[in-house]
Amino acid sequence: DWTPGEIIAEQVARIREQVGDGQVICGLSGGVDSAVAAALVQRAVGDQLTCVFVDHGLLRQDERAQVERDFVSATGVRLVTVDAREQFLTALAGVSDPEQKRKIIGREFIRTFEQAERDLIAEKAGEGERIGFLVQGTLYPDVVESGGGTGTANIKSHHNVGGLPEDLEFELVEPLRTLFKDEVRQVGRELGVPEVIVARQPFPGPGLGIRIVGEVTEARLELLRRADAIVRDELTAAGLDDEIWQCPVVLLADVRSVGVQGDGRTYGHPIVLRPVSSEDAMTADWTRVPYEVLARISNRITNEVDGVNRVVLDVTSKPPGTIEWE
Ligand code: XMP
Repeated sequence: DWTPGEIIAEQVARIREQVGDGQVICGLSGGVDSAVAAALVQRAVGDQLTCVFVDHGLLRQDERAQVERDFVSATGVRLVTVDAREQFLTALAGVSDPEQKRKIIGREFIRTFEQAERDLIAEKAGEGERIGFLVQGTLYPDVVESGGGTGTANIKSHHNVGGLPEDLEFELVEPLRTLFKDEVRQVGRELGVPEVIVARQPFPGPGLGIRIVGEVTEARLELLRRADAIVRDELTAAGLDDEIWQCPVVLLADVRSVGVQGDGRTYGHPIVLRPVSSEDAMTADWTRVPYEVLARISNRITNEVDGVNRVVLDVTSKPPGTIEWE
């Protein structure tokens, strides 16, 4: 039984030993694991670490600011943000098929991250330094699942793609390899990682891109971001964050239904609420959110989000439904 302070002291010593005076790079996703891993490495080697955050435009409201402002000021991490919003929107234009969207988002993400890596490598090389290390937020359950692993790999295993130049070879730094999720959260809190990040629920890499059923456009993203923020607000205010594993909020952009508001007929889109309870996301049950909370969410979304005239609740367990809609 280790305290978070002891885990931190031990990992800081290990990281220092592994990295020496080498340069380290870390991709931040906005999620818990990469943030805590980065904070640990920062604690160990300071500005030898550079974090890269790709804004693909599929993030939820305030997520970029939480990383750029709150995370950076709380941890002192050196951060490079890449604004790739236009690039992703352009690549996604006209695409409705879920698998297609996932492929495009994955491909653009890798491209963007690698370009950031190359830029950084060039910058460091100019300063006579070499980037030899890549931080990964691998947790103990991931290690077990993948059958152990060695702790060293090149970037191919990181990105799961082939065909990369050989000069992009990194040694992995995986300071969370012995930890479970709740320990990661404790360590994060001890390191001062902001609570909005430490307590964050799982969010898929492809982000809101796979929560819009239909084509992804900026207007639809904006609408979904507003609805999602209301849902998160109200669930948190109702004290349901522990009971709910995650609550995808989905925009049925290809569906419209008739409604009435004020004096007029509306013809808007439905928003789906998908609150689920789960241990590990492999199976899940729909969460019995109290009716009053659902009522508040429904009222707020239909009043505050233009273009949405209906809120529906997904009451499907997993299986047969997946947690995400796409
Ligand atoms: P499903 O929809 O398969 O989701 O029941 C299970 C869990 O995985 C998350 N998820 C993803 N996470 N990249 C991720 O990092 C993805 O492409 C992705 N797809 C689904 C989902 O949010 C849920 O927690």
